[in-house]
Amino acid sequence: MEVLLENCKQVLAENRSASGDYTRPAPGPYPHQWLWDSCFTAIGLAHYDVERAKTEITSLFRGQWANGMLPNMIFDGSVEYATDRRIWDSRRSPNAPEDVATSGITQPPMLAEAIVRVGDQMDEDDRLRWYKQTYPALLAYHSWLYTERDPRSEGLVFLIHPYESGLDNSPPWVNQLHMNHSPFLIKAFDNPVGRFIIESRRRDTKHISPGERIDDIDALLYHWVIWRLRSKNWDIRHIEARSHFMVQDLTFNSILIRANHHLAKIAKDIGHEIPEWLADRARLGRRAITEKLWDPESQQFYSRNYISADLIKSPSLATLMPLYAGVGNQQQTERIIHLLKSPDYFGTENPVPSVPVSYPEYHELKYWQGPVWINTNWLIIDGLRRAKQHELAGKISVATLDLVKTNGVSEYYSARTGQPAGARNFSWTAALIIDLLADTKK
Ligand code: GLC
Repeated sequence: MEVLLENCKQVLAENRSASGDYTRPAPGPYPHQWLWDSCFTAIGLAHYDVERAKTEITSLFRGQWANGMLPNMIFDGSVEYATDRRIWDSRRSPNAPEDVATSGITQPPMLAEAIVRVGDQMDEDDRLRWYKQTYPALLAYHSWLYTERDPRSEGLVFLIHPYESGLDNSPPWVNQLHMNHSPFLIKAFDNPVGRFIIESRRRDTKHISPGERIDDIDALLYHWVIWRLRSKNWDIRHIEARSHFMVQDLTFNSILIRANHHLAKIAKDIGHEIPEWLADRARLGRRAITEKLWDPESQQFYSRNYISADLIKSPSLATLMPLYAGVGNQQQTERIIHLLKSPDYFGTENPVPSVPVSYPEYHELKYWQGPVWINTNWLIIDGLRRAKQHELAGKISVATLDLVKTNGVSEYYSARTGQPAGARNFSWTAALIIDLLADTKK
């Protein structure tokens, strides 16, 4: 395992940005700073370089909008990425920062977890200083999430683009995308010439086999949603009035519930109290997940369409995420554990597939439609430990370490064979393996 540890550190050294302030997710397809990637990366870095871990997080604040939003991407400023910056054109919004170009949407709120994990590696004085330094940005972010994305005060926030979920093309999101598609666009591009045009504009498929990425037409529709949002200058009041693409995403809301817990702890430790309305919303959210996102018939959790209030009953590993949130009654938790152990669902040779293997939506190597990802394994392991399911947590942790040790530090892997797929030398894989390795030494 020493070799594995050294490999992971090497990946994080090589993926460090030229400025040294953040870590790129991978060389090639991912040249910018991504929000939840940096949070996962900081968790690993903190084990051997606390200063770099702190910088990884504070450099995310460069991109924070005046309304508190943390964007999923802060763009590299070099000439070669001018097109990426233009596609999003964040400066159309008066809330966007002036000195850096960002996206106009967010990503799962792993920030509070990362702040706490980095703080765990410090002595008490340093930790309190760290908490005081990061608390205002974190509080502003959580406040923004509930103010803009939970206007009905339900405790569940909605997302406006699949990228915000972090699980870009998972079946529930593809389902919603196709329900709200533009038939004209699909007709114009779903042919060899149209696909060629899309293909020529994609960076990811120049580095990675197209069979391991989002389908071309789906990729086009993702851009179509960006165009629509950009045309509203990223202003949620206009987006909400017009858009029918709003989803109360299960993974995102589960992560937010856990993040609320960390936010409250950080506030308490530095002698603050989070605003009462925010604490209320967090309480509501815990109940809302178990009551509104649970389907008694299939005995599973799902995301929900914000407009119609219908559950989106497409299979994905999101159904396991309430475990990470630490919510669910005994029956719901037992069901999640059953799904995790069942070979027809998530109990594969290499756990945990992003889509249950017995479903037609499962594709062995296609991005978030089947492969194993190390960040979601990490969330599941953490949730299992807090649910006192130590045996299963240990099993998945050992399997995850073996998977990466045998197949290299990749973006994702086949749940059946362990075959690596996607980008190689992937930062959050490296960082979270470092964290899991540290756990085995405890
Ligand atoms: C992809 C993933 C997303 C990740 C990003 C950078 O878009 O779906 O979760 O943050 O790549 O690694």
